[in-house]
Amino acid sequence: MKEKTPPRLIGMSGSLRTGSYSNAVLETLREKFAGTADLIVWDLASIPPYNQDLEGEKRPAPVKALLAAIKKADGVVLCAPEFNHSIPGVLKNALDWASRPAFTSAMAYKPVAVMATSPGPQSGARCLEHMKVALDSMLARVVLARECVITSVAAKIRDGRLVDETSLAFACSAVEELLREIRLRQMAKELVE
Ligand SMILES: Cc1cc2nc3c(=O)[nH]c(=O)nc-3n(C[C@H](O)[C@H](O)[C@H](O)COP(=O)(O)O)c2cc1C
Repeated sequence: MKEKTPPRLIGMSGSLRTGSYSNAVLETLREKFAGTADLIVWDLASIPPYNQDLEGEKRPAPVKALLAAIKKADGVVLCAPEFNHSIPGVLKNALDWASRPAFTSAMAYKPVAVMATSPGPQSGARCLEHMKVALDSMLARVVLARECVITSVAAKIRDGRLVDETSLAFACSAVEELLREIRLRQMAKELVE
């Protein structure tokens, strides 16, 4: 029987901050799922502002690399901090690049797990909702999972890792749902081959 390679996942946060809590969550998931899935946490620092003059072959090299990585990935994991009750511009900008050409882009039909963080006790949900709306528009498939909003995040990160058991369980269950969706797609593909 053919040896199966673990599903490839690409993670993005939209925070460029050293010591980012959202990146810490992604790094924790990368370690937690090592051996089960290969999660690459993509650094968006080199992605320039979106410019519609630069589509197709004219895309800047870092954008081409990001789009190729998304295309190659079986799924996407987004863990973003809430910025002004919405998505951080860095992540939205990357998604704007990745959403073109409209409806046939690297994001179209791609399964995505979404989670949001906030240092506040009650925020984050709006960022999560706005991510879902943007992902809907590019025909990405947000996987159904228990909603993962990691509030009071600063207290839940230690040494660059998410240590709060409850939040970690929510984050892991979002990734598990993503992996289930990827497995189902693989099975469907094998059935028709
Ligand atoms: C421009 C800006 C806007 C922000 N707006 C919100 C907000 O609306 N809600 C919230 O909970 N936190 C808000 N924050 C706080 C960020 O969520 C916090 O700085 C977070 O730690 C950044 O994410 P990171 O740790 O992954 O870098 C904002 C921060 C910045 C810089």
